[in-house]
Amino acid sequence: MLHSLVEFSYTPTMSEDITQIQIDILDHLRKHPRSYVAKKKLCEKFELTTSKADRAIAELENWGYQLLRSPQGDIRYGASPDVLFPHEITFGLTTKILGINLYSFDRVGSTNVIAHKYAEKDEPEGTVIMAERQTAGKGRLGRSWHSPAKRGIYMSLILRPQITPSQAPGLSLIAALSIAKTMREYPGIKATIKWPNDVLHDGRKLAGVLTELAAEIDRVKYVVMGIGINANHDESDFPPDLRDKAASLKIVSHSTIDRIKFTKLLLVFLEEHYQEFLSRGFKRLIKPIRSYSSVLGKSINFRHDGGSVTGKAIDIDDKGLLVVEIDGKTLSLGSGEISLTENYQA
Ligand code: BTN
Repeated sequence: MLHSLVEFSYTPTMSEDITQIQIDILDHLRKHPRSYVAKKKLCEKFELTTSKADRAIAELENWGYQLLRSPQGDIRYGASPDVLFPHEITFGLTTKILGINLYSFDRVGSTNVIAHKYAEKDEPEGTVIMAERQTAGKGRLGRSWHSPAKRGIYMSLILRPQITPSQAPGLSLIAALSIAKTMREYPGIKATIKWPNDVLHDGRKLAGVLTELAAEIDRVKYVVMGIGINANHDESDFPPDLRDKAASLKIVSHSTIDRIKFTKLLLVFLEEHYQEFLSRGFKRLIKPIRSYSSVLGKSINFRHDGGSVTGKAIDIDDKGLLVVEIDGKTLSLGSGEISLTENYQA
């Protein structure tokens, strides 16, 4: 079912949202990808009159589904539209927690803001909020996140880990690892992690993570993990000041990304890494994190004790902290902004 909030309109303007019967017909057709299904069979299976079945099929086509017809008028699933429908993301999704409860909107201010509202209303762990576009997408450190319609993947997850607030920054690193790992499944994308939570390709930013928490002094109430992926942006989709700093999966791989497939895979990796983090911390995750890192061995600049400090990033320890060497002494950074002083792009 497609969820919509009153203030958010859904663009493929339909009198109603996609209905359960349309989804059921679609799922049935998809379960028989190589064979045509007789309309009579659909009517019997779903107890529909011919006219109701015809209307449901026409509405699916209206949403952008491609349905193929045999000379006899039997129907076969062809292709899905590039729309982040909840039923598309949950179809065949193999996770147990993440994305099982999923809301998708055409337009929101910020999915993180919606996620906070939903978390306060007791939506369960693993709830995902997605949007086709954000009008006030939030970045880290008070920045905004450029979120043009249908180009990116903008999603926020509600997590309820039993951790202390000081452990929460580790979740950003978990997200970055999962994003980079998903991206590396695609040919031509050399995703690296710029500690703690940016994902880059050749120094240009492909994705960012904004982790926010509601917490008491010693207990995390819930976490909102906001993930922004530049998926199918063309160069012209970025404002001029971002063009040399940001890139998209499409730009670097020279092919359009199936956002639904990408989201599913990301949720699978994220769940695997999240569960591992909850049970054993970074122990087994630190190796891939180190190997994906674009900062280790580099000279970096960061704010410390109110001043700007330059040091060399020498390690990411088994707590996820960045170990920096300054004048022969080491310092461990927990979170915050670093910039590479060589070959750095924001
Ligand atoms: C950053 O690199 O500054 C973090 C960017 C995080 C952007 C995502 S998009 C989905 C979610 N909703 C938001 O408003 N922000 C995050």
